Amino acid sequence: MGHEVSDSAYWAGRYRSGKDGWDLGGPCPVLVELLEGPFAPPRGRFAFPGCGRGHDLRHWIERGYEAVGFDFAHQPDDLPVEPLDVLELGACYPEGFDGVVDYTCYCALHPSRRTDYAASLRGALRPGGLLIALLFPVEAREGGPPFGIDEGEIETVLGPGMDLLHLETPPNSVRPRLGRERLVILQKPRSGRPGPGPDSGRGAPSG
Ligand SMILES: C[S@@+](CC[C@H](N)C(=O)[O-])C[C@H]1O[C@@H](n2cnc3c(N)ncnc32)[C@H](O)[C@@H]1O
Repeated sequence: MGHEVSDSAYWAGRYRSGKDGWDLGGPCPVLVELLEGPFAPPRGRFAFPGCGRGHDLRHWIERGYEAVGFDFAHQPDDLPVEPLDVLELGACYPEGFDGVVDYTCYCALHPSRRTDYAASLRGALRPGGLLIALLFPVEAREGGPPFGIDEGEIETVLGPGMDLLHLETPPNSVRPRLGRERLVILQKPRSGRPGPGPDSGRGAPSG
């Protein structure tokens, strides 16, 4: 694609030079609280694309999920993280996961790759599987990463072939991100039928 953010060397360099301002130093409060509330997904096998230092991955493993991270530039020694390009996830793990959790991977990819990324994530989900995306930053901004996200992309990029279960602006985002995040939960139809149907709509995700 010719953009430096598509190259693992760019991200490896950011980790090496300590230019990792995205790192919260611990699990993200929105995803922590998700596991305590009515939208907590059933236990199962979850993928964490672009997991970085893996704070969320670690938390979900501690809470009983079978979780695996995928990051082409950084793999913590003490966590199950594979050095895979996330655009290959669907091809390498077809219907391999009950859920995928994206936090700040979507915004790290060049926007020209988002449609392919969404297709890759969809491909990695089993029918009935959940795509949980905490999107940041939902705003118009020049350049990136992070590249700005238009709220319409929830329907046009992430939505095709998926049923929207939940969408909110979380009240418990970390302070600088407050109001600039959207928690989205989409479900891959069990039948392979694209789009909303009789068993979809807003409600607790089912396994
Ligand atoms: C902004 S950081 C976010 C890290 C982590 N999710 C967090 O919140 O701390 C983006 C991460 O995605 C990884 N990444 C970016 N593009 C990728 C790709 N195409 N395949 C695999 N990993 C990628 C980077 O190496 C980096 O660790």
